[in-house]
Amino acid sequence: MPSARWAYVNGQYVPHALARIHVEDRGLQFADSVYEVCAIVDGLMMDEEEHLDRLERSLRELAIPMPMGRAPLKLVLREMVRRNALRHGLIYLQVTRGTARRDHAAPSDLRPSLILTARPVDPVLLERRRQLGVKAISHPDERWARCDIKSTALLPNTLAKTAARRQGAFEAILVDGDGYVTEGASTNVWIVTKDGEIVTRNLSHNILPGVTRRVILEAAAEAQMRISERKFTLEEAKSAREIFLTAATLGATSVVELDGRPIGNQRPGQISQRIQTLYADLAGRRAVRLLPSSN
Ligand code: PDD
Repeated sequence: MPSARWAYVNGQYVPHALARIHVEDRGLQFADSVYEVCAIVDGLMMDEEEHLDRLERSLRELAIPMPMGRAPLKLVLREMVRRNALRHGLIYLQVTRGTARRDHAAPSDLRPSLILTARPVDPVLLERRRQLGVKAISHPDERWARCDIKSTALLPNTLAKTAARRQGAFEAILVDGDGYVTEGASTNVWIVTKDGEIVTRNLSHNILPGVTRRVILEAAAEAQMRISERKFTLEEAKSAREIFLTAATLGATSVVELDGRPIGNQRPGQISQRIQTLYADLAGRRAVRLLPSSN
């Protein structure tokens, strides 16, 4: 029997359908909030410390206090996995600056709001997507100058992703004014050049420092694969041997078509697949087991 779906809002576990937030919460009024998405893979919480590190960083950059200490926050994450019986799924965590009379200027004494929701993911569909690869379109990057902060102000991302879906594609690959790829609407983008060089854009204020990206860099270094962190153009991507996307929601997933043009032989490439294996292995070794494996 499917278990009930639970959310957590400001200190209380509530049935998902009844979860509420105040109409003057600054997260709703101004997207004055940050978030994280953590994957649970076969009962393992992936990359938890890295996600909490980035949450703390995003909050620090916006001068929003942590809503609770890291240890109690981990307990809430665990309780959410348990209550939602989330063997395969995603935990979404959002912290807003808090609730106040609507005014652009934020009062300094607000209590941040903490919201967690959980959603199951079908591991068979996820694996099938990895085996088939996905289509992508290119789209102008119309975001602000601090994309390194994981803010919920995602309107340019949602518009780009919606445009992709309307064109039958899975992801929008964002391109800056000079023709360079920044990242995907909700993913980091990597290419494998004709010479076998693995490339992903270097970190700056222009992209999100992806947790999956970071763990892959570590796993690739362990496996003595060489990766260049540098800018690359949309044209370079289109003539690449492989393209893949990374995110907590996907692991590493190949792009087999970009703007209607086949990439490589239109099947997930060998390097992309090896990267996914290395990532799953390293993240899996470090992960915390919260529910028994289904195998
Ligand atoms: N998105 N770039 C952007 C713009 C993202 O939104 C994400 C993640 C990533 C990949 O980061 P990570 O490897 O830490 O998931 C890169 C999440 C999953 C989302 O918005 O749903």
